[in-house]
Amino acid sequence: MKRIDRETIQRVIDTADIVEVVSDFVTLKRSGSSYIGLCPFHNERTPSFSVSKSKGICKCFSCGKGGNTVNFLMELEQLSFQEAIRWLAKKYNIEIKEHEVSEKEREADNLRESLFAMNQFALNHFEHNISDTEEGRNVGYEYFRERGLNDAMIKKFHLGYSLKRDNPLTTQAVEAGYDEKYLLATGLSGKSERDNRLYDKYRERVIYPIFSVSGRVIGFGGRILSKEKASAKYINSPENEIYHKSDSLYGLYQAKQSIVKNNKCYLVEGYMDVISMHQSGIENVVASSGTSLTEGQIRLIHRFTSNVTVIYDSDAAGIKASLRGIDLLLAEGLNVRVLLFPEGEDPDSFAQSHSTSELEQYIAENETDFMLFKTNILMKGKEKDPIGRAGAINDIVRSIATIPDPITRSVYIKECSRIMEMAEKTITLQVNRARNEILENRRKQRDARPDAETDNPSVLADNADQIAPSATAVNASASSNDLAMQCRPYEEELVKYVIRLGATMLCTAYDDDGNEFQMTTAEYVDYALSSDGIVFHNPDLERTFRASVNLITSHFRDDANQFITELEKTRNDEIAEGIAKIRHEMGGDFDMAKIEAKEKEVKTTADKNFEKAYNKFELAYVFNNLGFSDDPIVMKITNDLYADKFELSKYHTKYSAVPTEYDQRVIIIERAIDELKSNFIDQQINDVKRVMMSLQKTDSDYDEKVMKTLNEIKRLTTIKGEFAKQLGERIVLPKSSR
Ligand code: CTP
Ligand code: MN
Repeated sequence: MKRIDRETIQRVIDTADIVEVVSDFVTLKRSGSSYIGLCPFHNERTPSFSVSKSKGICKCFSCGKGGNTVNFLMELEQLSFQEAIRWLAKKYNIEIKEHEVSEKEREADNLRESLFAMNQFALNHFEHNISDTEEGRNVGYEYFRERGLNDAMIKKFHLGYSLKRDNPLTTQAVEAGYDEKYLLATGLSGKSERDNRLYDKYRERVIYPIFSVSGRVIGFGGRILSKEKASAKYINSPENEIYHKSDSLYGLYQAKQSIVKNNKCYLVEGYMDVISMHQSGIENVVASSGTSLTEGQIRLIHRFTSNVTVIYDSDAAGIKASLRGIDLLLAEGLNVRVLLFPEGEDPDSFAQSHSTSELEQYIAENETDFMLFKTNILMKGKEKDPIGRAGAINDIVRSIATIPDPITRSVYIKECSRIMEMAEKTITLQVNRARNEILENRRKQRDARPDAETDNPSVLADNADQIAPSATAVNASASSNDLAMQCRPYEEELVKYVIRLGATMLCTAYDDDGNEFQMTTAEYVDYALSSDGIVFHNPDLERTFRASVNLITSHFRDDANQFITELEKTRNDEIAEGIAKIRHEMGGDFDMAKIEAKEKEVKTTADKNFEKAYNKFELAYVFNNLGFSDDPIVMKITNDLYADKFELSKYHTKYSAVPTEYDQRVIIIERAIDELKSNFIDQQINDVKRVMMSLQKTDSDYDEKVMKTLNEIKRLTTIKGEFAKQLGERIVLPKSSR
């Protein structure tokens, strides 16, 4: 596949109109200077989705989703950046100019494209069989009908059939010019050892095609029809360049919109479970296809929602599988619920034998929190058995310990304490111990890797040896995940202001030669953080922050000068025009004082317009540049954090006496930096304290270690107080703010 040229992307972005794009999905009504409608990202009755034509962005004031045209499409249709650009180009009839990447990339792309094409050919063939051949209709179509599927589902999931005799797929594909190697790589054909000839591998099976998130066929599952046959129940595509079983989920393509809309995903085992539930109207459902759940599959779900309900068979094997899945899901930070169908039923059979409302009611009444599920299962019959009970608690404690977010952990600790009638403190202690073990194991695994990266959370630029906590403290620190979560609100706040105010001038500073210069907000924040060795713990925010600072330091001044040149021209034109008008109005009246007064007024207005336009330019500069960054992470963060402003500015224009964010920027920025720094040091102090708590009295050098950590804490506390001082020497902030 080719990459779209930068210019085309720019043209598409410049052309696309947010109101027009959103209108393709949402009915919009005019409301003052913006448009409103029902949010497409969540269910609602009163509209809270607002679109600003002038700002080029949309935002839901209820769920917070939105962004510019590209974001909106990416989020709603779950497209990649390139796909979203293509979508817009098509809408606006913009010719897409592309460029080849490298030879190697092209080869890989070509292979992948060939495999996709091969699969698409096969899909057409299988679908043709089921509807347009006698055998397909009598055997394949009949099979699905007997299993209760209607035509709409057969079509929606592109179900098909592979004929019994003569290897028609292989023959037709070769005739159509497909290379043998693609037939083999996709697993559509096998090679006979006897005579080296290719044959149809899925013959006499019904076909469940497997789609990628964006809807391309990546593989097939073929189910056998007769029970007597000795061959495997299912034939599945082999792993190849486009099909990675552990990174794909059956039904996700058909489910994704419903998952986003309901903010929830049901996870089932098989193809038929997915399709039958769809037919019953529950569309936010995907299948792991028989294998035990993988991390890759969980991440895939996580792209769309954080809420998963696991539905596995209620037999012993199913329960075991769901228990294993739960811990994996928890470890990836998802909220997990569990649903069991009555003994002997699976989602497919239950959905087929009950009405939609019965199914919905059953789900609503039987879905349980993972915690209750685990306790019920584990405690069954062990109420009076202390050893069994202890084992169950231990198991639950370990599940809780896998949850990355400390707040969620504490919620479950509370619940566990309630259900098990045990002191919260006791459970907390056990969870912490289990969590340390998990982190320790992770660290060991990481160290064992040859390319192990030190993810020292307290990377300190220059004065590293001065304030870096001891090595042990770093090792025992909370996982970087926990730390990132704790720091997120502070980092987000600061990055938000860098996006909104980054290009505004904040203060006077001196360069190394002692020359005075005006420092922008972005540069100031960068300087303030790096001089104290503060780093971000959230990579997405870090990336956006870096991108903003780079943008400002390397492009802003040139761009601003160019803009000012244009503005000056506009101002001069405005003045010239105004003066000409005065001459005309005054006619023969030569009252010089009056003329001068009028001319002065024209100039003042022109100056004011100049100021206004420039301020608008400054405030939108980072957003205008990074809001469409081809780095999707930077783009997303920029849009998320910029969009809030929307609410603010609405308020400001209405009551213009309220000081704006811009007016108060010095105070706002200082406060955001202070809070981030304090939190940063607090985290370090916590780390050290954690180490101290984990010390064993039996350790030989116990006393020495305690002394060391106490000193560490003292030192960090002092540093906390000293932060502000170092800054003052090079930076002079405007007097009014200090
Ligand atoms: N599966 C597989 N290969 C097998 C058995 C199972 O790939 N030999 C996968 C399929 O994705 C299947 C899922 O595991 O959908 C669940 O297996 P199972 O419960 O045996 O099949 P069902 O999908 O329930 O099939 P059916 O209801 O048609 O018997
Ligand atoms: Mn089944």
